[in-house]
Amino acid sequence: MAALTPATGAQHAAILGLGSYRPSRVIPNAEVVEAIDSSDEWIQQRSGIKQRRWATPEETVQMMSVAAARTALERAGVDARQIDCVIVATVTHMFQTPAVATAIAHELGTDQAAAFDISAACAGFCHGVALASDLVRGGSAGYALVIGVERLSDITDIGDRGTAFIFADGAGAVVVGPSETPGIGPVVWGSDGEQFDLIRQREDWRDVVASERPEMPHLVMQGNAVFRWASYQMAKTGQQALDRAGVSIDDLDVFVPHQANMRITDAMARAMKLPERVKIARDIAEQGNTSAASIPLALDRMIEEGDAKSGDTALLIAFGAGLAYAAQVVTVP
Ligand code: COA
Repeated sequence: MAALTPATGAQHAAILGLGSYRPSRVIPNAEVVEAIDSSDEWIQQRSGIKQRRWATPEETVQMMSVAAARTALERAGVDARQIDCVIVATVTHMFQTPAVATAIAHELGTDQAAAFDISAACAGFCHGVALASDLVRGGSAGYALVIGVERLSDITDIGDRGTAFIFADGAGAVVVGPSETPGIGPVVWGSDGEQFDLIRQREDWRDVVASERPEMPHLVMQGNAVFRWASYQMAKTGQQALDRAGVSIDDLDVFVPHQANMRITDAMARAMKLPERVKIARDIAEQGNTSAASIPLALDRMIEEGDAKSGDTALLIAFGAGLAYAAQVVTVP
């Protein structure tokens, strides 16, 4: 039996740069309630959302991804040709194949980087960061790019009062590369397929094609069941991520949960007994729920507004359809 050379990578990995892209169209609650029986007051009280961003036709999944990635590369001081792998977390690239990651890698000018999409819905960004960290430490990539991007407005039924006001569009990206100290803690992740039906595409594409009046299979959601699961289970997952990283709650500076609902964020913060001084991401108020893009968008806003700074210790928790979840502690780039 031949002895194979093992892959060897960097001792540690970290997020080296972060970028995001917010679509230009701002949609206030007043516009959403034109199509549903609801009110600005109800939406704000039950979800914390005041407005959201929906993409224009020009703001495609690829366009928003490239814009966010260019900013991340520039801030990391990494050239696109140094990227060995592009991972795109999305559920709104409208081609079953090929992956949008290949087109993004090409447009960015990588040197034919490995590129693939992952489907873990709102948990996709944290899945991507975990994979990228392992690729860099395992020796499969010198630098990896992780993008979370969605155009959920394409698959949202604007007449469905249970979802129309929640979902939104945008992109966020990070460059993951070698580091002298650990900048990405161990991931705590998992899934609960018994709850597969709680948030999903309404029907399978073959049923859409076979129907007499084919239309986009929109997202459907049992909001209250998702709310209860996220509020109670995800705080435990966050605590496990802190424990696995060897970080106590007193070392934490920043909390960036998936921006699903402001009340879920508050419930998690209470259950984890976060000290008052820990800054909490609240991007959902202005941006809506952008699924795989929500964590990098929220962290970028915190950096812009001075609520997070380079070197801070941040807890990321992502959760959504599947049900799938992933959490890790990272150092803010
Ligand atoms: N406007 C006004 N009233 C509404 C409404 C709307 N858009 N949607 C529902 N209601 C009403 C219901 O009819 C119900 O009325 P009733 O008490 O008279 O029967 C009441 O509000 C409560 O409905 P419920 O579905 O229990 O609301 P909720 O407090 O769970 O809030 C969500 C609904 C969607 C905001 C909430 O469940 C949620 O955010 N869930 C998680 C969503 C999420 O995070 N999804 C993505 C995960 S990645």
